[in-house]
Amino acid sequence: MTLPAPAQVKTLKIDGIDVGGRADQTILEVAREHNIHIPTLCHLDGLTDIGACRLCLVEIKGVKKLIPACTTFVDEGMEITTNSERLIKYRQMILELLMSERNHICSVCVTNGHCDLQSLTQELGVTHVRFPYRYPMLSVDASHDRFVIDQNRCILCTRCVRVCDEIEGAHTWDIMGRGIKSQVMTDLNQPWGSSDTCTSCGKCVQVCPTGALSEKGKSVSEMSKRRQFLPYLTAMREGRE
Ligand code: SF4
Ligand code: SF4
Ligand code: FES
Repeated sequence: MTLPAPAQVKTLKIDGIDVGGRADQTILEVAREHNIHIPTLCHLDGLTDIGACRLCLVEIKGVKKLIPACTTFVDEGMEITTNSERLIKYRQMILELLMSERNHICSVCVTNGHCDLQSLTQELGVTHVRFPYRYPMLSVDASHDRFVIDQNRCILCTRCVRVCDEIEGAHTWDIMGRGIKSQVMTDLNQPWGSSDTCTSCGKCVQVCPTGALSEKGKSVSEMSKRRQFLPYLTAMREGRE
């Protein structure tokens, strides 16, 4: 997305409330500033938005398509709905598709009780999955001294890719493959433990929303993520620019 000029102020309505935001702010940012909750999964404050998960879809009056709030800038006169039966239905369906695509059996997951995907299914009342489970047999790479990647739990949000590139500057992670065959990989699909670029900072592990990335030695439910570093590092970085 191309950034509009920041100085302009736009006035709009979100859920019937009159709000104002700068032209370079997204619908999500302005909504959050006004305590209006929009569910998100691939978004993380401090990382570039890519609109991958579609959990943050909203309705804009006069626009037929549903629009991702995290990658759409506010505009003058917009009338936005963040919570309707239609939106809830689609958000539930997205979560069900994510749950069915790989292996998300929470009872045997290191992040059970601390998982963004699990919290969202609870928030949106998803108790059943209407789609056939695929259960692919994907790899688990435990070659790194301190961390493990279980591809079976990955939802391809690319938070790990973005934090490693944008904050750590290592760019160890990337995506390979297409569509349902996509997977995250370290370096040129080499084992993580033999990566020349990884600094072992652990940022990717801490921002991962699920149990896909975890610290070694954590058992079921023991892995909780620490994300406090991200807003701090982002503020420091912006201060330098
Ligand atoms: S530990 Fe740090 S450097 Fe290594 S892959 Fe994760 S974010 Fe990148
Ligand atoms: S490993 Fe975690 S952070 Fe990286 S894409 Fe998969 S779910 Fe997202
Ligand atoms: S949070 Fe907007 S698309 Fe994922």
